[in-house]
Amino acid sequence: MAASIQPWNRTFLFITISFSVMMIMESTDAMFQTKPWSYSHATFYGDETGRETMGGACGYGNLFASGYGLATAALSSTLYKNGFACGSCFQIKCTNSKWCNPGTPYTTVTATNLCPPNWYQDSNNGGWCNPPRAHFDMAKPAFMKIAQWKAGIVPVMYRRVPCARKGGMNFSFQGNGYWLLVYVMNVGGGGDISQMWVKGSKTGKWISMSHNWGASYQAFAVLGGQALSFKITSYSTKETIIAYNVAPPNWSTGMTYKCSVNFR
Ligand SMILES: *[C@@H]1O[C@H](CO)[C@@H](O)[C@H](O)[C@H]1NC(C)=O
Ligand SMILES: *[C@@H]1O[C@H](CO)[C@@H](O)[C@H](O)[C@H]1NC(C)=O
Repeated sequence: MAASIQPWNRTFLFITISFSVMMIMESTDAMFQTKPWSYSHATFYGDETGRETMGGACGYGNLFASGYGLATAALSSTLYKNGFACGSCFQIKCTNSKWCNPGTPYTTVTATNLCPPNWYQDSNNGGWCNPPRAHFDMAKPAFMKIAQWKAGIVPVMYRRVPCARKGGMNFSFQGNGYWLLVYVMNVGGGGDISQMWVKGSKTGKWISMSHNWGASYQAFAVLGGQALSFKITSYSTKETIIAYNVAPPNWSTGMTYKCSVNFR
């Protein structure tokens, strides 16, 4: 028998292949893609303990408790984007300086803080974080992975990379009975968030949350005594995912709740 494909089968094959390609495109679309390398500079703040890096502008609080540790950086306002860059991940490597560690190693950091402009200093002489400069003020231990700290400032190459996180996102609750303020941490993929909604198990309606400061989102609503679900849109990939029943009905502020979903 000749192994020719009948016209009907050919159409079927075509549909099957197109569908598979669409599925693949859809899944890669939603994944955060590594961005090209760019040039900037890096400095460091604080000492080897990283004490000064805790409680940064993104609102992640104690970075050891929230899982980011010492692999963090404060971003100049150009990169910080009013907090929408909080949680995003960067590879940074020292380049073209005698202070670079041998072998041009890169280190990966999470954005946890803002490096504010210093208008008293020129942007080429101390005002490193003044716009429009893209600048990284790294935790000292992170800086020491790429260069000698004695350098003070080094030229670097950097690129956005997907954030590799274990498990689901963490939701840290603050506020009061009428105002829920949520910090989402351990965000994978782009690591960043552009929009959030909350839904109570009794009210059953998605309530849009507004961006507060850093990485926090707020809802002015009475949500006590209900299990809470969250809908979250990634800033970088625009993907939206839903985390159902993140917090049980007896949730309270000051608590952190884990979910099982995350961005890639
Ligand atoms: C958040 O998630 C990370 C990673 O799963 C974990 O190490 C960390 O302890 C969590 N933080 C809290 C406060 O639950
Ligand atoms: C909330 O309820 C769960 C059971 O659903 C219980 O295990 C937990 O201890 C309660 N938490 C508080 C703070 O009462």
